[in-house]
Amino acid sequence: MTQIHVPVMWKECRDFLITERSGAYFDGTVGFGGHLEKFLPELNKDALYIGTDSDDTAKKYTSEKFAGDSRIRIYDLNFTHIDKIAILEGLDSFTGIFADLGVSSYQLDSSDAGFTYRAESDLDMRMNKKLGKPASYFINSMDEGEIIQILREYGEEHDAKKVARAIIAKRTVKKITTTTALAEVIEEITPPNYLFKRLSRVFQAFRILVNDELGVLREFLGKSVDLLAPGGRIAILTYHSLEDRIVKEVFRNAEKGCICPPSFPVCVCGRKPVMKAVVRKPLVPSSEEISFNNRARSAKLRVSEKL
Ligand SMILES: C[S@@+](CC[C@H](N)C(=O)[O-])C[C@H]1O[C@@H](n2cnc3c(N)ncnc32)[C@H](O)[C@@H]1O
Repeated sequence: MTQIHVPVMWKECRDFLITERSGAYFDGTVGFGGHLEKFLPELNKDALYIGTDSDDTAKKYTSEKFAGDSRIRIYDLNFTHIDKIAILEGLDSFTGIFADLGVSSYQLDSSDAGFTYRAESDLDMRMNKKLGKPASYFINSMDEGEIIQILREYGEEHDAKKVARAIIAKRTVKKITTTTALAEVIEEITPPNYLFKRLSRVFQAFRILVNDELGVLREFLGKSVDLLAPGGRIAILTYHSLEDRIVKEVFRNAEKGCICPPSFPVCVCGRKPVMKAVVRKPLVPSSEEISFNNRARSAKLRVSEKL
């Protein structure tokens, strides 16, 4: 089998995340265990590595692959359940918390997930097929204003109105139920030099909507800050500016002390920082890494440490 997913910036992630060889780590997006496999040599026999992934196939594969290793436990829950998983594992806190956001290469390439315009499949896009509604439900039921808002906010698409109108015109003739049908709508209204960019933006927008990706990220980060042990670190790999902005905001907010107006002679808010930045600017992959793994090209790694 060719490699299912090549872990991005794994050396940087490993070096910033693993601060204690016998610590308890939480990986919110364990996927096919690519990062986990690279981190393991750094962990002692009494360490704990708890991974979760909302994708069934990834969970099964990784549970089987690491079945003989008593340091590893794998769940198939959304990473927002980090607090419940900590309780199940009898832990008050984690030494390190990691997430490598988005979808795996396997999910992108698999023909039935509906994540990509490159393969024909049902317009589904759910990370967990047992929860929520598929993308086709939203695409065929939202009104023009709602579609425009989603395309602008989640896809950063400049001409959202044009795309929304084309979707509505098409679906009045026939429901849009496949990835190729949606791609055709976009193709009909887009100049060739902008086509792939727009296709990516539109597919990204609906994927974020279907999985509430920004909402769950905020919830996960908020809980992670609380669940980290002093000196422990959170390392998050993002792949687009919307995710990166949220990580930056949550970290900055936790790293901030007093928020009294500058005109106040003394602090009355009493607010103290709970985290400190480990890297001021996000780390990005080397050009060498991008040359052999094109999917790394948009990656950004931010790391913050609990005080
Ligand atoms: C980029 S891949 C991770 C790959 C992994 N680091 C590896 O090297 O194999 C992202 C994974 O996160 C999962 N995922 C995305 N959002 C999630 C969420 N909210 N909760 C749990 N898993 C999630 C996806 O199903 C996917 O398998």
